Amino acid sequence: MERKQEHIENYLKSEYRGNNLFDCVYLEHTSLPEIDLNDVDLSVEFNGKKIDYPFMINAMTGGGDSCCDINEDLARLCKTFNIPMAVGSQKIALVEDEAIESFELVRENLIKNENIVIGNLSARESLESVKKAIEMIDSDMFGLHLNPIQELIMEEGDREFSGIKDNIKNIVENVNVPIIVKEVGYGMSKKTIYELYDLGVRYIDIAGFGGTNFSEIEDNRRFDMEFSEFYCWGIPTAKILLEMKDKPDDLFLIASGGIKTAIDIVKALVLGADMTAMSGEVLSYLMHGGYEFAKEFLDSLIYKLKMLMVMLGARNISELRNVDYKIFGKLKEITE
Ligand code: FNR
Repeated sequence: MERKQEHIENYLKSEYRGNNLFDCVYLEHTSLPEIDLNDVDLSVEFNGKKIDYPFMINAMTGGGDSCCDINEDLARLCKTFNIPMAVGSQKIALVEDEAIESFELVRENLIKNENIVIGNLSARESLESVKKAIEMIDSDMFGLHLNPIQELIMEEGDREFSGIKDNIKNIVENVNVPIIVKEVGYGMSKKTIYELYDLGVRYIDIAGFGGTNFSEIEDNRRFDMEFSEFYCWGIPTAKILLEMKDKPDDLFLIASGGIKTAIDIVKALVLGADMTAMSGEVLSYLMHGGYEFAKEFLDSLIYKLKMLMVMLGARNISELRNVDYKIFGKLKEITE
């Protein structure tokens, strides 16, 4: 339980600023938009349901007392905006009964068959544990996280990664909800994404570099070694999206990793993402100013998203994919 609390504290204290390279994507401004703000439709279809906005709140927490408050507020936000909510790793609740409450209350605050709830465990966990975690919160989808660097920096982290692909395949084939495989902020290469696709995974959350930095978060929990050289390690979110432009139609790509503004969201969608996800930025608003502050942030984010759609001449999210863009600078240099 302490670890989850330390992650939040260390996230809020973190200083390193990575770059997801969306600032190397140029979108052209229009002065003659033939679209009314009220006609803009920001909804997307996700797991067979219509969600009102093209973003969700991504996996963060659960377990301790303070996590109850955080998860409850995050769930209330998701209900207010009709967006999906992913809980943090449920591992703690599989071993400590008193940790279950902070996960259960997410389900209680969200409406079954209306709001999407996404469970979470490491991709190294057994099929049996995943089934228990799904049942615990009656989750509509389930997220398996890949975090080898985070584990290797953690003193108490895992050191064994062999067999992970077979494990993922076994889980995908034997659970009754769709599996989302996600990173935690280091990004996934095109090769990794296609390997996951071949294992049967159809929802991938790229969680690219440029936002929450677990090298720094874990480094600040470890005192016998220091790992600052890894603060810059990872694949920038924009690079992954560019390289996945020709992805198969049945692969749903969630863009995350340093998504903080409406411009980030729009650029991710223009580059071909099906939806986006945010963790750290929403958490910052919530921890600094409470539920109302976080709600105001999301209200203004939505207003700005509509503004951008008008300026780009897109009435709905699928029309964003026709918007011309240019890439330049570092993004151009490092992209295939
Ligand atoms: C996370 N993240 C995370 N991911 C996961 O799959 N299981 C988890 O338990 C956690 N825990 C967690 C705690 C905290 C405090 C943060 C900020 C993040 C990772 C998260 O879901 C996301 O992939 C990354 O944070 C990248 O997105 P942002 O934060 O840059 O928007």
